[in-house]
Amino acid sequence: MKTKNTHFQFRNSAASIRAAIFGRRTLTVVLAISFAVAAIAPATAADTDTKKPPAPKTRKNDLHPLPAGEKPVGTHAPFEDGDCSLCHKNKDPKDPGPITGSVNEVCFGCHEDFQKVLAGKSSHAAAKESCVSCHNPHNARLPKLLVEETSALCLSCHTTVSNLMATAKVKHAALTTEAKCANCHNPHGANVEHLLTRLPYDLCVNCHGKDGVKDADGEILANMKKLLEENPQAHGPVASKDCSACHTPHGGENFRLLTLDYPAQFYSAYEPKLYALCFDCHEDSILKDAKTTTLTRFRNGDNNLHYLHVNKSDRGRTCRACHEVHASKQPHQIRDAVPYGPKGWMLKVNFTQTPTGGSCAKTCHETRSYTNSVVAPQVK
Ligand code: HEC
Ligand code: HEC
Ligand code: HEC
Ligand code: HEC
Ligand code: HEC
Ligand code: HEC
Ligand code: HEC
Ligand code: HEC
Ligand code: HEC
Repeated sequence: MKTKNTHFQFRNSAASIRAAIFGRRTLTVVLAISFAVAAIAPATAADTDTKKPPAPKTRKNDLHPLPAGEKPVGTHAPFEDGDCSLCHKNKDPKDPGPITGSVNEVCFGCHEDFQKVLAGKSSHAAAKESCVSCHNPHNARLPKLLVEETSALCLSCHTTVSNLMATAKVKHAALTTEAKCANCHNPHGANVEHLLTRLPYDLCVNCHGKDGVKDADGEILANMKKLLEENPQAHGPVASKDCSACHTPHGGENFRLLTLDYPAQFYSAYEPKLYALCFDCHEDSILKDAKTTTLTRFRNGDNNLHYLHVNKSDRGRTCRACHEVHASKQPHQIRDAVPYGPKGWMLKVNFTQTPTGGSCAKTCHETRSYTNSVVAPQVK
């Protein structure tokens, strides 16, 4: 069973909605709740299931003060003071001797606030273990007394992420620009799981809340902040602010950093595995049978219109022909308009919901309506 949906507390709300609608997901929810309750327990079954090599807790660095002739980028205030006994046994720079306690005890002596940071909801095992895995206590060639550039520093211990970044077909510039790993993570501790400085949604929308962000091929990406503001009907997981339910933040194998397969084109020959993303949460039975009176509401009588549009061996319509995956103005995540032709003109879908079904007007075809239920006769 997938465990990705148990990472965040707020994901449980999405999971329970899902369970209410899609019965087969009940097991996930039971698991999700038990993990949430056991969140403070040191190890869960999920930890042992994922066979990632554990990151080392410490790293060996050359911690000598830089050679006298070299001008450091940063110098630690107490070292600049010249009194080595602020941390070492002796005052004498020629013979400072050992430090007065464990490394972190020495650091906490002045940086008391870090004790609070490390006691937060999510704290970094590496920082709990030793501050000098990342900082030189004297001076350094990098800002913030860092012993190595941030990304290389993080990746030296996090080889799983490092391998993913090196091999991923779709890469994410969020990891290699601006503050790099620190765009999303606090290296010491945070109030959100996985050392995240904010909820994933807020992190994502912060960068994807402007016009003109381009992907690796130069294609302009939607301004997600504007999109979500203008389209009040948010898709379930988006409404629960869970962008990483569908996207892998560190890079991945699928189009648009999607966690699972989804066709990249507007038309696609039907193959169930192409829609693994949608069917991770929805029943694939909605488009399996040509005739049904139960499996989907998108039917005209017993004529399954999901089947009719999508389940084709040539130009099957992908879900995006009718649905907006993030948010829409219409109910059922139905989109307002579809791009048409090489210039990307937008053709109105003109979807109208009716008490017994709905209709689409003058888009891909003349006005067509469907009936999936009978209105109860008025009681006089
Ligand atoms: C802010 C605290 C602090 C101050 C001030 C400080 N040191 Fe250190 N120093 C440390 C720590 C922490 C270590 C690492 C000790 C360890 O790993 O056990 C260290 C290690 C060293 C080492 C050994 C480096 C190595 O890699 O083995 C030398 C040499 C040294 N300090 C010299 C000095 C001298 C000289 C001064 C005064 C001019 C000084 N230190 C002031 C904290 C400090
Ligand atoms: C004697 C007091 C003292 C001790 C002990 C001490 N620090 Fe500091 N540290 C300071 C002061 C003062 C500053 C500069 C003021 C500030 O920015 O808060 C500072 C700043 C820093 C900075 C930021 C540097 C920058 O360029 O912005 C880092 C990183 C740091 N300390 C790490 C450590 C580590 C790691 C230890 C333990 C090995 C340690 N400190 C122990 C007093 C201390
Ligand atoms: C895993 C690496 C790592 C460890 C371990 C680590 N730090 Fe840091 N620290 C960083 C990075 C990276 C930054 C710079 C963050 C940034 O620029 O936003 C930083 C910044 C700082 C700063 C400057 C904060 C500021 O706002 O300017 C201080 C002070 C500091 N660390 C103290 C500590 C202390 C004390 C410990 C041990 C309890 C520690 N660090 C352990 C990576 C680490
Ligand atoms: C000295 C090795 C070391 C370095 C350097 C290091 N880490 Fe870690 N990190 C660990 C260990 C150990 C864990 C806990 C065990 C694990 O998840 O494998 C961890 C866990 C994490 C986690 C998961 C926390 C959670 O609760 O799920 C994140 C996120 C993380 N590190 C980010 C970073 C970032 C960002 C940097 C660079 C600023 C960094 N690490 C540098 C050793 C390191
Ligand atoms: C765009 C935001 C973002 C950036 C930038 C980012 N991460 Fe993460 N990271 C996340 C999120 C979100 C999670 C939680 C993953 C999930 O939901 O499955 C995470 C989880 C992790 C974890 C713990 C779980 C795991 O996948 O192993 C580690 C370790 C980690 N990140 C390391 C890093 C390192 C190292 C970097 C820099 C090279 C980095 N991250 C950059 C968003 C980010
Ligand atoms: C239910 C799954 C799902 C969730 C949840 C989700 N996305 Fe997406 N996202 C997709 C799919 C599918 C695409 C590809 C859309 C297409 O090309 O039709 C996509 C595309 C994108 C793109 C590229 C847009 C473009 O113009 O091509 C960005 C940026 C993005 N998502 C960000 C986000 C952010 C930020 C969130 C959280 C607010 C989020 N996504 C939540 C499924 C999801
Ligand atoms: C620090 C800024 C930053 C953050 C934070 C960030 N992104 Fe991005 N993202 C970018 C940039 C820049 C691009 C375009 C370049 C590229 O494709 O890597 C991008 C590209 C993407 C793409 C399209 C990738 C492709 O090539 O098809 C998706 C999808 C996406 N981001 C989703 C997310 C999600 C989900 C989050 C939150 C977990 C997030 N981003 C957080 C900067 C960011
Ligand atoms: C030709 C347009 C069209 C296409 C293509 C389409 N849908 Fe739909 N879908 C609809 C309409 C219209 C409804 C609303 C039916 C109602 O309630 O009246 C709907 C409803 C749904 C529902 C709600 C449950 C149900 O079946 O009534 C789900 C889930 C769904 N679609 C998923 C998908 C997925 C996944 C794909 C791609 C594999 C897809 N749709 C492709 C038009 C479409
Ligand atoms: C992480 C789980 C998840 C994924 C992945 C997902 N959905 Fe959903 N979807 C939901 C939830 C939760 C709802 C909200 C159900 C509700 O409130 O009625 C929903 C609602 C919908 C609806 C509206 C149904 C209605 O009855 O009005 C459509 C249409 C839909 N999703 C299509 C898709 C398509 C197309 C994909 C793939 C691109 C997809 N979903 C992927 C969880 C998901």
